[in-house]
Amino acid sequence: PVVRKPIVGGNWKCNPSKVSELKELVANIDACDTSGCDVYVCPSTLHIGIVYKSFKNGAKVAPQNCNYKGCGAYTGEMSADQMVDMGLEWCLIGHSERRGEFGLPTPPESNSLLAMKCKYLLEKGMKVIFAIGEPLPVREKGLKAVMETLIPQLLEIKGMLDPARVVLAYEPVWSIGTGVTASPAQAQETHRAIRQWIAKEVSPSVAAEIRIQYGGSANAKNAPDLSKCPDVDGFLVGGASLKPEIAEIVAAVA
Ligand code: G3P
Repeated sequence: PVVRKPIVGGNWKCNPSKVSELKELVANIDACDTSGCDVYVCPSTLHIGIVYKSFKNGAKVAPQNCNYKGCGAYTGEMSADQMVDMGLEWCLIGHSERRGEFGLPTPPESNSLLAMKCKYLLEKGMKVIFAIGEPLPVREKGLKAVMETLIPQLLEIKGMLDPARVVLAYEPVWSIGTGVTASPAQAQETHRAIRQWIAKEVSPSVAAEIRIQYGGSANAKNAPDLSKCPDVDGFLVGGASLKPEIAEIVAAVA
């Protein structure tokens, strides 16, 4: 059987509010044991330049967004060329907070736009964390409806699913920042269904090798049980990545 190396990301989102707080957040990430687990951090855009050389344990820095055009007259945007030049290897795209699930941004990022971003990042030699997820009304209808929402999010990038360079982050929208975590059974059945879809639409080997993180109120308490799920390959952590417990989450998966 294929052994997938676990991967844990800390998505700091639009935090912290003060530069003076970064030191502590960096120390939390530096306390993570990266020997058996890939670790990355997504600082806010303003803070990337301050912290990107700070991590002593090999933790990588992944911006929370990227344009799909490169450098030029794109006010407020970031390009993969700039990331590559800074030595950054990873970028997060597709987070539901950018897809518009939380009212921002305007206009929300569509599946097609995200596919363009993914293609561009990969062409530039970057690796991509690609987030997908369903809102609560869809989850309430069950797994079939969930997959009917997730498949269109994956369809346009299915030809780009190189397991060495793309990690999927399954983040049910209803569990983000709510304290409501998917149960291990819900996470497992969804990750498994995603893998089965990839096996059918791409190939069984890509399905077996690609890593799928779980995101949504993951913390030190629920990480041990969730990481026992055979198809859960780590976490994308929001709130708890701002606290020392991120090291416990990494320890739970490794
Ligand atoms: O990207 C991580 C995320 O959306 C989950 O956030 O705060 O529920 O762990 P949180």
